[in-house]
Amino acid sequence: MNTLKRVVIFGATSAIAEQVSRQLVSQGASLFCVGRNNNKLTAIVDDLKVRAGTNQKIEGFCCDLVNIKQHQAIIERAQDVLGDIDAVLIAHGTLPTQQDCENSVDLTLKEIETNALSIISLLTLLANYFEPKQKGVISVISSVAGDRGRQSNYVYGASKGMVSLFLQGLRNRLAQKGVDVVTIKPGFVDTPMTASFNKSGLLWSKPDKIAQGIVSAMVKGKNEVYLPGFWWGIMFMIKHIPESIFKKMSL
Ligand SMILES: NC(=O)c1ccc[n+]([C@@H]2O[C@H](COP(=O)([O-])OP(=O)(O)OC[C@H]3O[C@@H](n4cnc5c(N)ncnc54)[C@H](OP(=O)(O)O)[C@@H]3O)[C@@H](O)[C@H]2O)c1
Repeated sequence: MNTLKRVVIFGATSAIAEQVSRQLVSQGASLFCVGRNNNKLTAIVDDLKVRAGTNQKIEGFCCDLVNIKQHQAIIERAQDVLGDIDAVLIAHGTLPTQQDCENSVDLTLKEIETNALSIISLLTLLANYFEPKQKGVISVISSVAGDRGRQSNYVYGASKGMVSLFLQGLRNRLAQKGVDVVTIKPGFVDTPMTASFNKSGLLWSKPDKIAQGIVSAMVKGKNEVYLPGFWWGIMFMIKHIPESIFKKMSL
């Protein structure tokens, strides 16, 4: 079991990350929260401070995480503020419209930069931070969308798939070093990212429920979790449809 007392949240203004932060703070954690929207970040940090005890530190840091040159300095600042880092959660992401990406190379590459490259930059630095300490938890919100390319969202899906595969390799590297690498694969979650979606049906979850699963996976040092768990079965079936049939389906 991992103790999550000093945690860095990247993309702390995400609806899912905000719920994770609340749950960690209620369990006594100190947090270093990184977000790009200063107003939103300040409001979230202020709320977390009200929820925290006097011995817990809560600090915000404003940064657009595609600015990868700032990543090392952010980790150093978090280390200074928290004293040490037990765990990180990387939550930031954007969900582009697939059609817009198909019409723009620039947008396609920008989305891959946000959803994959900025995360891989952080992971490279964080792995080197935790490896010599022989402990720590690196957790990232990927997506079920990364499990198989589909015509409706393959730019986002490819980015998430790249992150999931990178995490698999990183876990393989760090497994013998006492560092847990946790891949989180939510299904449909009711957040600002999915504001334009029709949310009827049984497949939708609320961010607080997903956050519970994330915190539990971080504490237990799980490898890969589908949230809610029934998405494992859905994706198992989707992954096993033969390509000759799959390519004719509209998914
Ligand atoms: N909602 C779903 O159905 C679903 C399903 C599977 C996986 N996920 C993943 O879950 C994670 C959290 O998303 P969410 O559902 O909580 O949606 P959300 O509330 O829209 O959160 C996304 C967050 O990412 C931040 N962000 C985007 N680009 C950034 C950048 N360059 N630098 C810093 N922050 C940046 C956004 O900041 P701003 O506030 O500044 O825009 C926003 O706070 C994402 O990785 C998403 O891909 C979501």
